[in-house]
Amino acid sequence: MAFTRKTADLTPLRDAIYVAAEAAREDLAKNPDLVINATIGTLFGEDGKLVALDSVHDHFDRIDHRVKAAYASGLSGTDEFRESVWSWVTQSTGLDLPHSVIATAGGTGAVLSTMKTFLDEGETVIIPDIAWTSYSLMASTYNLKAVTFDMFDGDHLNLASIRSAMEEVGKQQDRILLVLNDPCHNPTGYSMTREEWHALVDLMNDLSKDHHVILLDDIAYIDYGHDLADVRSYMNEFRRISDNVMICICFSCSKTLTFYGLRLGAAVVIAQDQKDVEDAHTVYLKTARSTWSNAPNAPMADFVWVVNENREAYLKEQQSYVKVLQARSSLFKQEAKECGLDIYPYKEGFFITLRVKDNEEGKKLHAALMREHIYTVLVNKGIRVGICALPLEKVRGLAGKIRAVQLGIE
Ligand SMILES: Cc1ncc(COP(=O)(O)O)c(C=O)c1O
Repeated sequence: MAFTRKTADLTPLRDAIYVAAEAAREDLAKNPDLVINATIGTLFGEDGKLVALDSVHDHFDRIDHRVKAAYASGLSGTDEFRESVWSWVTQSTGLDLPHSVIATAGGTGAVLSTMKTFLDEGETVIIPDIAWTSYSLMASTYNLKAVTFDMFDGDHLNLASIRSAMEEVGKQQDRILLVLNDPCHNPTGYSMTREEWHALVDLMNDLSKDHHVILLDDIAYIDYGHDLADVRSYMNEFRRISDNVMICICFSCSKTLTFYGLRLGAAVVIAQDQKDVEDAHTVYLKTARSTWSNAPNAPMADFVWVVNENREAYLKEQQSYVKVLQARSSLFKQEAKECGLDIYPYKEGFFITLRVKDNEEGKKLHAALMREHIYTVLVNKGIRVGICALPLEKVRGLAGKIRAVQLGIE
């Protein structure tokens, strides 16, 4: 008998990313010129250093010590933060449905509190088969089951698989919680088309005749979409949700502001009925109070200042990195095409993922790449290449090198 709770999973947490990153670091110390470290999940500049946006952090340094020391004025976050998040997240859509914003500890806090708000222990959450691994970790930690849907049918979203997963889960429970990470999906860089969003809302409305349907839309990477003016336009589809559908947008300041370590995010709840929004808010708030208590005050103040007072300078600086990502991804995609390296349909974002026949091939290729000093992250049905941290000169030729290793093991 263990001291830990009966349902605890005692296998040590060996996050695939940290394991691969550790191996890369060791090799880098011995072979600095040979190593390509594509394991990193944060944005690095062309100088090979972590990006910390000046338009964000200079002001943070000037924030009064007492603002940094203080608890936030509200348990849901400060009013200014909550208002600014709503207008930032829905900018250029004019979305005006009943909504509420709860400040969270990172995007992680927004995702976990969404799972805890809508599902009882033992119930099932639906996640993509290729996904950020924390979704399934959260599910198991909170005694939820997770089922997956096939994310792709060829190069498109597999809506039939989503429907069948939702119908199956709907046979067991009233509430159906579907997790999507769109746009700029981690790890494939896929973004759904407007038509796919339209069809998804139709599907949710259809299933909502007999169920409460909740969509968790994780937008952690949204601000790295290639077209700032259009990247949120899909949210207009939310206007059509039925009374039995709720949308929970999980926003993260980690990537948007280069705030990874400052742990700030928000859950944005949207529904047709104000009362449903208020009920959800109450439950989110209790999760917040009993988990991280208050979101950090100074990061909230900085977010408010950046998006309201310093927006132009911020966008100038931040969008310059979107261009950097565009250059890196175009080069990798072009070279992958030329050498016949199969990748998932990347559109935008931090990562590109190689498509493999099966997980066995994935494992072999991942290990063979390490022997050639190329460090990547093994994911379900693929291998993730973090172009977010690879300067263009390291990207150049990389697809060809990977293809050569792949041909060598075939
Ligand atoms: C898909 C996805 N969602 C959410 C997050 C949450 O990030 P954070 O908790 O740092 O805001 C991450 C971070 O890597 C992520 O990759």
